[in-house]
Amino acid sequence: MQTLNVDLGARSYPIFIGKDLLGRPELVAPYVSGHQVMLVSNETVAPLYLEKVRRAFSRFQCESVILPDGEEYKNLETLNLIFDALLEKRFERKCTLVALGGGVIGDMVGFAAACYQRGVSFIQIPTTLLSQVDSSVGGKTGVNHPLGKNMIGAFYQPRCVIADTDSLNSLDERQLSAGLAEVIKYGLICDLPFFEWLEQNMLALLARDPAALAYAIDRSCQLKAAVVAADERESGVRATLNFGHTFGHAIEAATGYGKWLHGEAIGTGMLLATDLSARMGMLAAADVQRIENLIDSAQLPTRAPANMDYATFMRYMAVDKKVEAGSIRFVLLQALGQAIITSDCDPQLLKATIEAHHAIVEA
Ligand code: NAD
Ligand code: GLY
Repeated sequence: MQTLNVDLGARSYPIFIGKDLLGRPELVAPYVSGHQVMLVSNETVAPLYLEKVRRAFSRFQCESVILPDGEEYKNLETLNLIFDALLEKRFERKCTLVALGGGVIGDMVGFAAACYQRGVSFIQIPTTLLSQVDSSVGGKTGVNHPLGKNMIGAFYQPRCVIADTDSLNSLDERQLSAGLAEVIKYGLICDLPFFEWLEQNMLALLARDPAALAYAIDRSCQLKAAVVAADERESGVRATLNFGHTFGHAIEAATGYGKWLHGEAIGTGMLLATDLSARMGMLAAADVQRIENLIDSAQLPTRAPANMDYATFMRYMAVDKKVEAGSIRFVLLQALGQAIITSDCDPQLLKATIEAHHAIVEA
């Protein structure tokens, strides 16, 4: 088992990464507050892992609530189901919520923990590649609004993160690729050697080679933990973790949450941001091609939906958490492995990028 630390002073916490980590009471016990534990999962993940996880918490009063599965349920109405269960079971202020699932469950449970009785403890047990490399770490929690992705939420850190790499064996291929999008993101924004390692190891990752997956998760979490420790509340460098997200969130919202997987939208969003970086004179054509090749080799879509024209992108991108004084701030690449944040972007170049990345047929 690898143990990393997210260094946030009194709110620091460990990330445990390894095989066969579910169902281990000694691993979770130090991070439980009080005697009541609410396991929150969904209809897909609960039948696979809930009973195993319950064993780890058997010395506590352990209850569970099972939510519907899907990005389209990441909203305030579903969040209320968690509060209903907590109140019906008379959960006290000193209690612990456990998120067992992908990023949707993790984001919602974290937000529920931030709100219930003004804040209770929570533990992240991420079960998708995407949630193990990204969403379970760093304390961004929340839900979607029909007009904008992740628009309602809070910064709220877990007490620990337990990433059991065995759980990735039950993921389908599309979900694995979606997770790889966020892995590729780290190489692009801040780690050229990792990008090069991904170019060499993409086939091993797609084949779920345990050593390759363990290295990719470990390296991604190291990079994310360092960024979060430097800028927990995104007043600076943390915004680079949103590379591809301005375009990607627009795709998710415009197509209706759940049609494009988050990671798929981010993969295509990163290509749009790459194209824009090149049009602004920061990236060479050869680098653009390398990035497109890597995203394509991860079996991610490389074209935006055909029905999303410039006006549609602009409408959705105007509702982005990076918007400041009405202007959209983009995360771009000034070189492979080096991201910058800018609002100084020529609308004509942006339009050209969007038009160049339309799919030929309806996506
Ligand atoms: P997800 O949570 O929807 O999970 C994907 C699918 O896989 C779901 O159907 C889920 O039930 C299923 N699943 C989960 N674990 C499984 C397993 N082990 N075996 C089989 N099926 C399994 O999606 P995701 O890609 O994990 O997360 C995407 C979400 O994360 C988005 O809402 C996104 O906004 C959010 N996110 C948050 C952050 C953050 O910093 N908080 C960062 C990135 C993404
Ligand atoms: N996924 C972006 C962040 O955590 O900041």
